[in-house]
Amino acid sequence: MSTYKIAILDGDGIGPEIMTEAVKILELAGERNNTKFELLRAPFGASAYFSHGQSFPEETKAICDEADAILKGPIGLSHEESKKIPVDEQPERGALLPLRRRYDTFANFRPVYLPKGIAHFSPLKPEIIGDGIDFIIIRELVGGLYFGNKETGVNAEGKRYVNESLEYDEDQIARIAKVAFETASKRKKVLHNIHKSNVLKSSVLWNEVMEEVGKDFPEVEVKHILVDAAATYLCLNPGQFDVMVMENMFGDILSDQGGGILGSLGLMPSACMGPEKAYYEPSHGSAPDIAGQGIANPYSMIGSVAMMLEMSFNMNDEARKVWHAMQSVFADGYSTPDLSRPGSDVNLISTSDFGDRVVNALSNS
Ligand code: NAD
Ligand code: IPM
Ligand code: MN
Repeated sequence: MSTYKIAILDGDGIGPEIMTEAVKILELAGERNNTKFELLRAPFGASAYFSHGQSFPEETKAICDEADAILKGPIGLSHEESKKIPVDEQPERGALLPLRRRYDTFANFRPVYLPKGIAHFSPLKPEIIGDGIDFIIIRELVGGLYFGNKETGVNAEGKRYVNESLEYDEDQIARIAKVAFETASKRKKVLHNIHKSNVLKSSVLWNEVMEEVGKDFPEVEVKHILVDAAATYLCLNPGQFDVMVMENMFGDILSDQGGGILGSLGLMPSACMGPEKAYYEPSHGSAPDIAGQGIANPYSMIGSVAMMLEMSFNMNDEARKVWHAMQSVFADGYSTPDLSRPGSDVNLISTSDFGDRVVNALSNS
């Protein structure tokens, strides 16, 4: 029997609720595959700040260091609640970015997937959706504006100012480019490179390096699209995309738009891959507006487990079965309320009911 250690970081808001369901599926997948997943729970996020005085406590760092993979729920508080925490300890700056930096998780995979059978969840018209939506956003996750130099102060004229820079070196761009080309090479062999080279020098270098790396992948066709136009095409013709690659902040914004065209951010899992360690998290936040009500969609968290099974443990077949199990719950006419549309005919179920139905479907597969 193989044994793997998984750090479990519940996070804030809906985090613990959707994590409970994801853990049910993780444990079941282990039992079905003669694999023991040893779960190491650790405090992380705003809840950790209030209980331990730090949003990424030392004990959590030690547990993550020791783990074979990390499963992380969303972190963060509402705008008002965040003010109770000093700016640098707020969980986005104090926990999430340090987690990404610690394990150098530069390659963030955010699949945007809606099979035809559940296309009615999308706000887009059926004629736009066609055979469904199926593309992947590859977001650079440890560079750019998020990690560049930051300076605030009062200038010579006595005005408060801020200066933060968008920084990349060629190696940082080359390694995400390679991941993107490799992914495109295994899929439809078309890569959409999203940039803003008509204004940003960072995009000029980004595009240069993309083209250099592309020489090693002659089978992949590269299409360069400006990020603002890409936002429009995501609504008007998402079917043209298969693999998209972009810098950190563009990826943050366009991946939430991906959730929008699916019908809910609750359908957005993700994988954050570093050279030696990976962590898995939903693309969305802690949804303070629905936390504690038992109605959050756990698909994104369970999908993150499926990505972990495949990308960290090579359990591809089991991962595929987890995706199928979730789709079968939708096919049976059930969904959490985030996916209900006016006039739609779905049976609304709770977070835990969704998880239990996935467990049943997986057990029978
Ligand atoms: P959000 O992603 O939490 O929520 C946006 C909308 O999507 C809300 O209406 C919410 O109810 C809905 N939603 C999100 N996930 C859902 C799910 N699984 N099921 C059903 N509905 C879902 O964005 P926000 O409200 O702007 O941010 C809230 C907090 O989350 C902020 O503190 C933000 O910094 C943080 N955040 C954390 C992460 C992360 O941990 N990776 C990601 C994004 C935002
Ligand atoms: C995400 C989130 C984070 C980001 C925040 C919470 C720092 O929005 O994972 O998409 O901007 O990367
Ligand atoms: Mn985001």
